[in-house]
Amino acid sequence: MALDLTAEQKALGKANANDVAEDLSRRGFMKSVGAGAVLAPAVAATYYGYEASQGKPVKVALIGCGDEGGILLNEHDPKTVEIIALCDIRPYNQNRIIEGEGPTTPRRGYKEIYGKEAGEKVRNAHMYTDVKEMLQKEKDLEAVIIALPLHLHKPVAIDCMRAGKHVLCEKLMARTVADCKEMIKVAKETGRILSIGHQRHYSLLYAHATDVINAGVLGDIKHIRALWHRNFSWDWKPDGKKIVENVPGIRQPAPMFRDGWFQPILQMDYDALKDKFSQFGYNSVEELVRWRLFNRTGGGLMAELGSHQLDAASIFLGKVKPLSVQGVGTRSFFGDVHDEKDRRNPRGIDDSVFVTFEFPGKNHPQGPHKGTDTHDVVVLTYSSISTNGFEPYGETVMGTRGTMVVTAESELMLYKEPEPGKGSPAKTTMAKVETVGNKPAMAAAGTWGGPPPAAAAGAAPGIAGAGGPVSRGYKEEMADFAHCIRLWKNDVGYQKNSDDKYVQRLPRCHGEVAMADAILALTANLAMARRQKIDFDLDWFKSDSDKCPDTGVEHKD
Ligand SMILES: NC(=O)c1ccc[n+]([C@@H]2O[C@H](COP(=O)([O-])OP(=O)(O)OC[C@H]3O[C@@H](n4cnc5c(N)ncnc54)[C@H](O)[C@@H]3O)[C@@H](O)[C@H]2O)c1
Repeated sequence: MALDLTAEQKALGKANANDVAEDLSRRGFMKSVGAGAVLAPAVAATYYGYEASQGKPVKVALIGCGDEGGILLNEHDPKTVEIIALCDIRPYNQNRIIEGEGPTTPRRGYKEIYGKEAGEKVRNAHMYTDVKEMLQKEKDLEAVIIALPLHLHKPVAIDCMRAGKHVLCEKLMARTVADCKEMIKVAKETGRILSIGHQRHYSLLYAHATDVINAGVLGDIKHIRALWHRNFSWDWKPDGKKIVENVPGIRQPAPMFRDGWFQPILQMDYDALKDKFSQFGYNSVEELVRWRLFNRTGGGLMAELGSHQLDAASIFLGKVKPLSVQGVGTRSFFGDVHDEKDRRNPRGIDDSVFVTFEFPGKNHPQGPHKGTDTHDVVVLTYSSISTNGFEPYGETVMGTRGTMVVTAESELMLYKEPEPGKGSPAKTTMAKVETVGNKPAMAAAGTWGGPPPAAAAGAAPGIAGAGGPVSRGYKEEMADFAHCIRLWKNDVGYQKNSDDKYVQRLPRCHGEVAMADAILALTANLAMARRQKIDFDLDWFKSDSDKCPDTGVEHKD
């Protein structure tokens, strides 16, 4: 079962997902579907329990205005989170965050969102290169959103919390597990909110998927297959030219391959930063621009891509802690950063990773039911490669009665297992849910093949992403952050619950939750580097324990 489904199979899978959700919703198993409405997804604010409009927007600075900073700026709602200052050191990105890439692109820019005048005001008066200077000068600032390279997450988040600001920091939480623990400690000491940007915690599509899994219709889940494959091996041909030398505006040597992580270095950025990179925490301008390719500044494919999908898989499994990880990481296509003559887009990180995790199944002693069956494990494989993009990115959850496929954070598909001897699971149509014992279950397919139902072929409403764009969760994560800030009283977040009592309200992906994701990704890296199977220690997941998987590991290149 792969993610490379045909359009017809996809349409069928989406129709199946809608059918199952409809049945489950009627039976009260779909919390993420609005009450009374058949397959109208719940309003995110209601489902996640935040107020969409806060009355008074939280005043925020965006630190790191690169690719992801541009997405966050695009997705935020100024009525909830008002961005009053920006901080970045690359002139190109300083300009791009203001001007944007066009009104219909995913990076519309500050001027498009706040208006021309406001854009110029921020460019001239509230654009910083130095975080500490910004924290000193911006007296109205309540919070920051950090979209910086990984190695800077901890120091900058801590500086901001110590300056009294609440922090929403991009994933991966930090470069080491000890760094994650320090961030949590400072959040507690300073009484600040620390939220981490794993957006799947705020995606309704993942909430639907989790509802379906929790209802039990997939049967006994024993395998999850997640992957993120891209092909970065094509020649780099700017403007269609084959020549890669002497491209105007690009510092030489230019990239050899069209590799999204090996960005060309713009002459304007090089001129501005060639004497300053060390002051901003880098060994070179190359390291600053291509930080993802170095083990010191990034955490490789596991941190950048794998962490998202391990997060998703662990949400599906009820956020249980993993048992073990092993894997193979290779750098077999691109060049080595230590070889100065090697022009093959050199790097320090692996260009392909393949890891296998064991998670506790339902009846395992560490599983959700705290059973006694130590054989009850779920095997999760994760691969990320850079030289073939045949399959897109996504997760496949395989149970004894059915399979769930989530692709590209936007589509949800379901397939049931066929009756013995009755054909391929990817082609089966799905009868509605039936009751087995007192639980919902997918009936085995009695038929297979056939055209998708009409509703699925067009713009079907419902949960499966067939009816239009699906929010990936960025908007919701920023709204939830703002909501927590507005509730923050006496340095502890409280809100009234239905009994009129005050209860603590932390963001859904607060420090402890995100640290578990960091442990998954960083321990997988260790297992690959050591070529060992590593058993997880539950103390690693406790923020008040000094135990960490990566103590003493140095990340030099
Ligand atoms: N949640 C997601 O889906 C998602 C997707 C992409 C990236 N990210 C995360 O967002 C973060 C940023 O990634 P990106 O793709 O935007 O990288 P990027 O290189 O495009 O942007 C980083 C920006 O930080 C700036 N910067 C670097 N050092 C600085 C310093 N000392 N002071 C001020 N500015 C500095 C750079 O000039 C650059 O503009 C990373 O942690 C990444 O993992 C998350």
